[in-house]
Amino acid sequence: MLDFSLTPEQESLQDLARKFARTEMAPRAAACDKEGRFPEEIYRKAWELGLMNLNVPSEYGGSGLSVLDQCLIVEELAYACGGMTTSIIANCLALEPILLGATPEQKRRWLAPFCAEYHLASFCLTEPGGGSDAAGLQTRATRDGDDYVLRGEKCFITNGPHASLFTVFATTDPSLRAKGIVAFVVPGDAPGIVRGKDEDKMGHRASSTGTIRFEDVRVPAAQRLGGEGEGFSIAMRTLDQTRTPIGALATGIAQAALDHAARYSLERKSFGKPISEHQAIQIKLANMAQMVSAARLLTWKAAWTIDRGERGTLDSSIAKCVASDSALRVADDAIQIFGGYGYMKEYPVEKLLRDAKLTQIYEGANEIQRIVTARELLRRYA
Ligand code: CAA
Repeated sequence: MLDFSLTPEQESLQDLARKFARTEMAPRAAACDKEGRFPEEIYRKAWELGLMNLNVPSEYGGSGLSVLDQCLIVEELAYACGGMTTSIIANCLALEPILLGATPEQKRRWLAPFCAEYHLASFCLTEPGGGSDAAGLQTRATRDGDDYVLRGEKCFITNGPHASLFTVFATTDPSLRAKGIVAFVVPGDAPGIVRGKDEDKMGHRASSTGTIRFEDVRVPAAQRLGGEGEGFSIAMRTLDQTRTPIGALATGIAQAALDHAARYSLERKSFGKPISEHQAIQIKLANMAQMVSAARLLTWKAAWTIDRGERGTLDSSIAKCVASDSALRVADDAIQIFGGYGYMKEYPVEKLLRDAKLTQIYEGANEIQRIVTARELLRRYA
């Protein structure tokens, strides 16, 4: 039987994340957003509570949670602040290639010390010349004896300015496209790594996003994940896992927008009664509630698929796409219900719209999600 009830363990995880989100994140969210401040003290606390490295098995010191458990946590965190949540879960994205492609020895080497202390890691795939066409990346990996030499530039790297470890995708030969891509683990202090400026973003302003240049960075072949030509599959399989928690992140933003709008509609009066009594507002709230429920259910469905050990490509792209499109629309409707106040930074809903927007772009633009969905779908009819 399909069962939507949570186990007592899942309820306590949700509760832990909710308390942390409401007491630590929410009170600082507006100020961090305004100042574009990266609140590392909050990220350290999240790490102390086991709210980071959620996908790393407990044998390496991580939380070892299922994707569904991760989603329960991520939705709660994102309810308080989408930007902080992006920075908290960026380690999951960066470490997933190690979980998927590393040997047992490499896992012990890179994951255990990383989880024993607070550290940030970044996933380096996107380049200035193109993000959607991942197989067209240009960062070169040139073999030199027992090493590779990395040269190229990555951009829009979450936590890049602060990371002490990078998982990097490079190519031995760009003409081979996907078949030339290799994945590496690169320590943040490797000579030749140049960190660019922290980007000044529209939303997710408590998160940090930067450019990382690799200027002839020497990486021992022992730090390669999988074989030459296996990097693209590692990157794609990573995104199959991590797009689902992005669905949860978007759901958290959407739920926050719905809650703000519903409460406001009960207080605000027009034409002699609370605006919640106007059908125009009720219809908007109903549409918003439908979108939030659909986003959550599709996210849970994708998590369930992956947790059963099935390939999550289709379900995770659907979940990420629907949840992020929903978050943007729900946040937009929330602003409309707040009217002029909704447009003002003094009220919480305009931040939700700015934060929702990024969820349509990162971890694969929604146009890419639709391409992935169509390909997976058509494969079943061929
Ligand atoms: N799992 C395993 N293998 C896969 C796969 C998957 N999900 N998807 C593709 N592959 C394999 C294919 O089977 C194919 O293998 P063969 O050649 O052996 O048949 C190979 O990879 C090439 O696949 P495609 O021909 O499908 O490749 P493509 O060039 O047409 O592109 C794409 C595919 C889906 C568009 C891909 O480029 C893509 O996902 N782009 C988006 C990238 C992205 O999401 N970037 C986000 C970066 S993270 C981020 O946002 C930053 C952050 O910090 C939050």
